[in-house]
Amino acid sequence: MKTQKVIISIYAIAILSGFILTGCSTEQMSDTPALKDVFEDYHLIGTAMNVNQVDGNDENSVGLIVKHFNSVTPENMMKWEKIHPEPGEYNFEPVDSFVSFGQKSNMFIVGHTLVWHSQTPGWVFENENGEPTCRDTLLSRMKNHIFTVAGRYKDNIGGWDVVNETFYDDGSFRQSPWYEIIGEDYIEKAFEWAYEAAPGVELYYNDYNMWHAGKRDAVVKLVKDFQQKGIRIDGIGLQGHWGLDYPPMDELEESMRAYSELGVKIMITELDMDVLPIPEGVEGAEISQKFEMKKELNPFPNGLPDSMKFVQADRYAEYFNLFNKFRDNLSRVTFWGIQDGHSWRNYWPVRGRAAYPLLFDRNFQPKPAFDAVIKTVTGK
Ligand code: XIL
Repeated sequence: MKTQKVIISIYAIAILSGFILTGCSTEQMSDTPALKDVFEDYHLIGTAMNVNQVDGNDENSVGLIVKHFNSVTPENMMKWEKIHPEPGEYNFEPVDSFVSFGQKSNMFIVGHTLVWHSQTPGWVFENENGEPTCRDTLLSRMKNHIFTVAGRYKDNIGGWDVVNETFYDDGSFRQSPWYEIIGEDYIEKAFEWAYEAAPGVELYYNDYNMWHAGKRDAVVKLVKDFQQKGIRIDGIGLQGHWGLDYPPMDELEESMRAYSELGVKIMITELDMDVLPIPEGVEGAEISQKFEMKKELNPFPNGLPDSMKFVQADRYAEYFNLFNKFRDNLSRVTFWGIQDGHSWRNYWPVRGRAAYPLLFDRNFQPKPAFDAVIKTVTGK
């Protein structure tokens, strides 16, 4: 009897330590409130997902995704270079798994993104001699891509970032190959074809630095122009790669108001708010910008001090207090990832920094920022 008891206790200890060692004791097992429940009457709460999570190699993240989020966006899987790397060659497998995960978990699935200058292979813009291709060819490549990709997922996806980052901060057109080869009507063509390919899906324009007055005016003009011409556009995505001292809250509020007044949905689509210094005043998310690593740009290589965690929490609360004001128009807030260690901000705009932009730390534990965000709704 005594021996049996001892064996049972050893077994219990083993199970318990197994929990700890395998990570089963992570946050999803605790009684922390679920973000999606707290914000149920406000907006969807989304996250970006990467291939590791879709493949089931990162169970801790998946646990948090299922518990806290009701919307998912693929971080890279649907970008042209991933889903359509060569002419006529499509790589649907990871996206199919992503979509089926989203469906099984009752998520609002976002497609990201159909037309962008970045992460698009060079061949898209070139002829057989490696020179820029002509307008008609590029239009037909774009049309085929949209019909193939948006068409395939037309019954599974809730909304598409149809065009990403078409304007500079001052509101002028980005001199991308899309613009240079086709001209400014590539944007409306993309939306028209996305609508034809997937008529039941919401269609969004998505960009960073949407709080800049110049970009605000350009986007407002674009949406009004579409509305006048009868071209479907359902929403505006503000990416949200922000920092401790930008964007200015009043500018952000001004933009959220201007976009709301257009009668389209607004959403924060890629939220990550880092506490690291920004090299040479780089704000936004111009992914072509890269800076050399310097010690002073990486002030917290071994962990974020508590004091900084609370500074970040306050800043997150400021954002969410603003978002809450727009609850009638704000349909979704999507974080760009789950936990700090996996964030792209560890390698952009400076490779190799320790970044801390998200609500969960490297051990999958909620940070003070998590509590602060919840408190903006519950008051406690
Ligand atoms: C980023 C991804 O997070 C990185 O993994 C990738 O290396 C580069 O792109 N704006 C966007 C997102 O619309 O697609 C970008 O995502 C971040 C900036």
